[in-house]
Amino acid sequence: MTQTASPTTPNPIEASYRHEDWLRGYESQPQEFDYWIEDIMGELPPELQGTFFRNGPGLLEVNGQPLHHPFDGDGMVSAISFAGDRVHYRNRYVRTAGFCQEQAAGRILYRGVFGTRKPGGWLANAFDLRFKNIANTHVIYWGGKLLALWEGGEPHRLDPATLETWGLETFDGQLKPPVFAAHPHLDPASEADGGQPCLVNFAVASGLSTTLKLYELDPSARIVRQTTYPISGFAFMHDFAITPHYGIFFQTPTTLQGLPYVLGLRSPGECIRFHPDRPTRVILLPRPGAMPAAAKPIVLETDPCFVFHHANAFEMGDEICVDSICYATFPTLKPGTDFRRVDFRALPPGELWRFHLNLKTGKVTHEVLLTRCCEFPSLHPAHVGRPYRYLYLGAAPAPMGNAPLQAFLKLDLQTGEQQLWSAAPKGFTGEPLFVPRPGSTAEDEGWVLAIAYDSCHHRSDVLIFAAQDLGQGPIARLHLRHHIPFGLHGSFTPEVFIR
Ligand code: CO
Repeated sequence: MTQTASPTTPNPIEASYRHEDWLRGYESQPQEFDYWIEDIMGELPPELQGTFFRNGPGLLEVNGQPLHHPFDGDGMVSAISFAGDRVHYRNRYVRTAGFCQEQAAGRILYRGVFGTRKPGGWLANAFDLRFKNIANTHVIYWGGKLLALWEGGEPHRLDPATLETWGLETFDGQLKPPVFAAHPHLDPASEADGGQPCLVNFAVASGLSTTLKLYELDPSARIVRQTTYPISGFAFMHDFAITPHYGIFFQTPTTLQGLPYVLGLRSPGECIRFHPDRPTRVILLPRPGAMPAAAKPIVLETDPCFVFHHANAFEMGDEICVDSICYATFPTLKPGTDFRRVDFRALPPGELWRFHLNLKTGKVTHEVLLTRCCEFPSLHPAHVGRPYRYLYLGAAPAPMGNAPLQAFLKLDLQTGEQQLWSAAPKGFTGEPLFVPRPGSTAEDEGWVLAIAYDSCHHRSDVLIFAAQDLGQGPIARLHLRHHIPFGLHGSFTPEVFIR
């Protein structure tokens, strides 16, 4: 058959993927695996030693009853161990109380924050305000503890070698409501600790007003500082940013309409309304120990926007810069619309914005650094809260419009240079993770680790990029024997636990 020229100009926003290929990446993975990866393309860097942990929803149904949204899916943790010249894969479900109860019952017993309902209509759901801690959002290794995180409850502690669930972590009973968000940031040189690293996390409890808490944990995972701040109004906060002196929060113009939730008609996620006529409040909370005890929160205002993730923040004299993935509105979850039928083009794309907060004048300005649809920012861990040059992101392959993440992007914030590697049309990406090469000095000297879903083979690959040359594509592709459903966040530790 001969090829003829297309009579029409290619549409620049034509989909880079087929919807059914994307959807297969959300098939449940009920199996738990434990094997050495043998199918490897390319070369493993011998200096890359350690464990790459990932978390995300592994089950998109309970015994055939579909969930309404992937964010309601039970947490499944993967561990990819780089041990000598071999790589090991293991995954296990976090045995949360809710997971064990629902698996034993063979049906959905809990309402989900993002729209999953118990069978039986609104009557079965009304006045049931219990949620299960699904431990599906992040996994970190800190102070000898492997912790699966979810933003509405205590961390679950896991065995780092076997991923067996050991139970809820309360840090010697010091963790009290509101407990622990799923987005800690690691301060590489904490001022209150004489330059030692410290883990900073927050907790939020919100209704008509909001309580924000800052937690700081030392390298042995002891809570060494915590401070609580009351904030006016409702706040939906998934992430925050840190600098040496502040925890920085965006209170975006959202409200919660509680009645449909209480009556069982809607989930909390479906009750959030975005108000494009109201400003976003930027709240700077003084970090305990790094600021005088009498220091008060600073509240500034900027244009309405919605943010899930902040990339980084840093101080420059009287100015603080905050880089965030911004959406024009909150992508409202409509009751009755299943995520499986989502029209990406109808939703606003996430863009990278830089906010300049002037602490002297109280003025906030912002500029758009990247209009390409992007999410899941990652940078060199030594630059968290400090000036930095390189940012790594999951991105859409096309420069305009909203679409699933099918590419990885490295952005040079100094020159604006971009390096893009795309897995389209059959591949789908997510969060990249920058891992510095041991002993490196350049900010981009290291690797970018990621998991990508290959819909051609219905399996996932572990990808290793040389961060200085991300655009050339992965230097190694490790083919797993199966797929991992699209995940959320992960982390790396140079420790190896596999025996
Ligand atoms: Co997140």
